[in-house]
Amino acid sequence: MKLALIGFGTVGQGFVEILRDKGAALRDQYGFAPQLVAVATRSRGSLLLASGLDYDALLTAIAGGHLDQYPDMPGLQRNLSTEALIQQCGAEVLLEAGTTDLQSGQPALDYCYAALDANMHLVLANKGPIALAYNELRERAQAKGKRLLFEGTVMAGTPSLRLALQALAGCTISEAHGIINGTTNYMLTQMEGGMSYSEALAQAQALGYAEADPTADVDGWDAAGKALILAAALFNQKLTFANMTVRGISQISLEDIHAARTAGERWKLIAHLTPSGASVQPMRIPLAHPLAGVSGGTNALTLSTDLLGDVTLIGAGAGRKQTGFALLADVLELHRMKQR
Ligand SMILES: NC(=O)c1ccc[n+]([C@@H]2O[C@H](COP(=O)([O-])OP(=O)(O)OC[C@H]3O[C@@H](n4cnc5c(N)ncnc54)[C@H](OP(=O)(O)O)[C@@H]3O)[C@@H](O)[C@H]2O)c1
Repeated sequence: MKLALIGFGTVGQGFVEILRDKGAALRDQYGFAPQLVAVATRSRGSLLLASGLDYDALLTAIAGGHLDQYPDMPGLQRNLSTEALIQQCGAEVLLEAGTTDLQSGQPALDYCYAALDANMHLVLANKGPIALAYNELRERAQAKGKRLLFEGTVMAGTPSLRLALQALAGCTISEAHGIINGTTNYMLTQMEGGMSYSEALAQAQALGYAEADPTADVDGWDAAGKALILAAALFNQKLTFANMTVRGISQISLEDIHAARTAGERWKLIAHLTPSGASVQPMRIPLAHPLAGVSGGTNALTLSTDLLGDVTLIGAGAGRKQTGFALLADVLELHRMKQR
């Protein structure tokens, strides 16, 4: 299976490290021997080699700051535009791990359409295209007989979508609620330990949880983007940011935290979804609630089902290997599909 990777940052590199480190196991256990034929970045070059790029050389080049440091070899094409790379790479799968834009979904959305035109399956870690254009992408993919997989967009490689859509197939899911932004959960946990909001934010930034501009996390937009994705995937709902309540944690004070604790409760930023709507807002939940015990950067999602009752999934919501694994899980699904 030939793969093309857009975006070679934290997630893209995590994925390539997994391919490098688990190559033998993937071949032996699953008969899976993919070839990464193309890698694109925005400002650090791109590479295309039909016979497959070398993982170590790729990782060494990017660690040095630019894919130009990848060694010369016959057939290697350098610095094609991302659009040209998609058209020329001949891969079966486009992996989109470029930067999320929750306003337009671009340029990733156009890359996805171009990849479908070039007969590729789509695997995304990038939330933008799914949050904003799931229906159109799905329809275009179906029309082409291609799969649209996006496990990494919600809870990294923790299989929230696969649980809901595959393991729980046959159950009716009536409701979902969860902690789907690790940065804010980390900050709330630190504030419970006595840290002020600004100290907790500074620490989250120092640890790489929060961006230099933390607005998307602390104001709830990252969680809301994931809620849009869950609403589309679980309930086939076409929501937009405009028709959901979105509130973040920036108004939560240490006094609020203490008041909740005195009442046997804890503040969490909760995404809540039903077949008729979605919201993201800070809520006080009883300490006995399964989500109350989810601390630090960890994510969790409770799905309420008719046949199984509540099912709660707890795991990583971000990270290099953790999200790289989401891409692997999706391409392994494509591999299994091909073998059937
Ligand atoms: N990090 C996580 O834990 C995590 C978890 C779940 C989902 N995600 C999502 O996964 C995606 C990747 O995250 P990340 O943490 O790996 O981000 P990152 O470290 O900032 O890397 C983004 C990569 O995308 C490249 N890129 C941006 N625009 C591009 C374009 N137009 N064409 C080609 N390449 C382009 C960047 O190029 P340059 O190197 O030139 O800037 C960079 O290599 C994001 O959409 C993110 O929301 C991340």
